[in-house]
Amino acid sequence: MMVYNSSWQSPSNIALIKYWGKYGIQLPRNPSLSFTLSACHTNMKVEITPDAGIPGLTVLYDGNERPSFGPKIKSFFARIDVHFPWLKNASVLIDSTSTFPHGAGIASSASAMSALALCLADIDDQLNGIAHTKDEVWLRKVSELSRLGSGSASRSVYTTVALWGETDFVKESSNEYAIPWAQHVSPQYHTYQDTILIVSSGEKSVSSSAGHDLMSEHTYASVRYQHAENNLHQLIGAMQTDDGTDVFVSICESEALQLHALMMMGRNPFMLIEPNTVSIIKEVWRFRKESGLPVCFTLDAGPNVHLLYPLHHQRNVLDWIISDLQKFCVDGAFIQDKVGTGPEKIN
Ligand code: DP6
Repeated sequence: MMVYNSSWQSPSNIALIKYWGKYGIQLPRNPSLSFTLSACHTNMKVEITPDAGIPGLTVLYDGNERPSFGPKIKSFFARIDVHFPWLKNASVLIDSTSTFPHGAGIASSASAMSALALCLADIDDQLNGIAHTKDEVWLRKVSELSRLGSGSASRSVYTTVALWGETDFVKESSNEYAIPWAQHVSPQYHTYQDTILIVSSGEKSVSSSAGHDLMSEHTYASVRYQHAENNLHQLIGAMQTDDGTDVFVSICESEALQLHALMMMGRNPFMLIEPNTVSIIKEVWRFRKESGLPVCFTLDAGPNVHLLYPLHHQRNVLDWIISDLQKFCVDGAFIQDKVGTGPEKIN
């Protein structure tokens, strides 16, 4: 029996313009824009025996079996087996590790699902005898597959910045897949820093999927989708030059707070931020006013705070984090991350 395998490292990403609300099969209600991260990533090895006789799925995480990941992966497989017919009868082994706490709102599904899509697309090429090329057409296909696993995963396959979701002013944009956006942002964003302050490393009380579902009956949904698009338009303009930092700061923070405000304004309100999240936000505002440094925050669907700032302010910002912010982090934990170059094949 032939066994095929593939290993990829794929990063997480942090949305600046948030995807919150979906329809159909993981199609976004509004376009989103993200930084691809670097330190936060998943390493995955997938081993496939296509004609195993009995199809099977084994999922290992950090070397231990994780049957709880099975249902999400199985429903992903059911969505993609039209592209990969061999998957139906295959025996599949997925072995992965990630560099950050699972389920803590650091888009673990984005790095894991994009890594899985990369491995499967690679194995499909091997099965079809196609020499592997990581060109833009291939990445677009992988982005679309990743989206079917987790919407935000569609954005993890590109270097630096990715745009996912249709918008009138970007002709090639699509709801089906993300597109690369690095070429449209000024050099400072290619080395932007993201320090992730870990306010809590526990599992989230409400998953992103459940949160998206609550948007379908949300009173403010249509206003939100329009507003996200306007914010995207302005942010894209601001990021074209190094002079747009004020706009960058105000839009990033407004998007983060809107995401959490939407959670609190629904018919079944919920709250993912913690008291320490609020303390950090207030301290960011104080520090920015006093120092004049362009450091701002954004939030994922969780309590942790991402601090975004240009590389040349790293020393000052780190000193401040250690003196004034580390006390709000669980066990003083923070992750020093930065904008990254996208997935890499592991040999
Ligand atoms: C708040 O991509 O995790 O991080 O498509 O249901 O898997 P599913 O949701 P997911 O949602 C991410 C939501 C967000 C914003 C964002 O990353 O754009």
